[in-house]
Amino acid sequence: MSRILAIETSCDETSVAILEQTTVLALVTASQIKDHEAFGGVFPELASRLHTEKITFIIEQALQQGQLTFSDIDAFAATAGPGLLGSLHIGVMAAKTLAMIYDKPYIPVHHLAAHLEAAAFSQPLVYPLLGLLVSGGHTYLIHMDQPLSYRIIGETRDDAVGEAFDKIARMMNLPYPGGPEIDRLAQIGTHAYTLPKPLPDGFDFSFSGVKTHVQTLLQQHEQKKIPIHLENLAYDVQTTLLDSLFEKTSRAFATFPYRMLVIAGGVASNKGLRHRFGQWAHQENIRLVIPPPWACTDNGAMIGILASRMHDHHIHAALDHQVDPNWSLRDLKYKV
Ligand code: KG4
Ligand code: ZN
Repeated sequence: MSRILAIETSCDETSVAILEQTTVLALVTASQIKDHEAFGGVFPELASRLHTEKITFIIEQALQQGQLTFSDIDAFAATAGPGLLGSLHIGVMAAKTLAMIYDKPYIPVHHLAAHLEAAAFSQPLVYPLLGLLVSGGHTYLIHMDQPLSYRIIGETRDDAVGEAFDKIARMMNLPYPGGPEIDRLAQIGTHAYTLPKPLPDGFDFSFSGVKTHVQTLLQQHEQKKIPIHLENLAYDVQTTLLDSLFEKTSRAFATFPYRMLVIAGGVASNKGLRHRFGQWAHQENIRLVIPPPWACTDNGAMIGILASRMHDHHIHAALDHQVDPNWSLRDLKYKV
């Protein structure tokens, strides 16, 4: 059984995991959320500087946690895209350097594919499966007819759903990152504001209309000095965003004899989403897999679980393999 050391530095988490297949032997994450709070979003230069400062220490901590040394590792993996260019470089350079020194393979991992693979921490994936990927930068419906094979069947035409959560939360003066804050308030709110629910053709999504509508609503209330009920607005924002996700996903699921629905990415830790899709899957007898909340937001373990699968299929890369901040799932073709 191979042991993989996997590094995630694509955005604002410096995270290192050591895995044996789907077993996590170690996972150490340093979050930069507090450092970026003042900017209301991730400040790229600061992100790469903090990754540089922390990466060596986090790798050492992971080895200590797993009671392992570098010579116990069979392959070194890192997120090679998509993400922030400077940040990606830090993790990739660390993985490549270790691969070179210890003469072991280097595995470049696609961040979004890793989010989906994290569902395998909950149960083995069965194919064909439909993946709903909901993160801070991306919203996709993905058809997978076998492992490591990705076909995009729907995507957002404007903002990603996590981005919509974050931008709306910012307008509501909620702390960063806003997704979990809206989720928390929505649990204690009730319906009060009617928001538009744009549904483009096919399986595509659109979220920017909701954002614009909330902006106008907040401005009008401020001008007329009418107080806004933040809990209720959070409830309606969350319900509207989830309605669109639900509508398109359930429709796509019905078009093909899928054996499983996987929902992954940071927004998959949303309580409302888990409840809504969970109820539906139960009623319809659909096999729904959502990674446990700890595996939904960016972390080294999700990079490791996909790297393990890639390693089993002998998918490695030369040390001159480049990071790609815009690496698209469309370009991800593996022969398995
Ligand atoms: O996947 P992720 O950790 O990073 C990216 O690869 O983008 O996702 C981060 C996104 C942020 O937009 C954050 O607000 C959102 O996931 N998020 C949530 C929740 N937890 C994280 N959105 C809604 N409800 C949550 N509970
Ligand atoms: Zn992510």
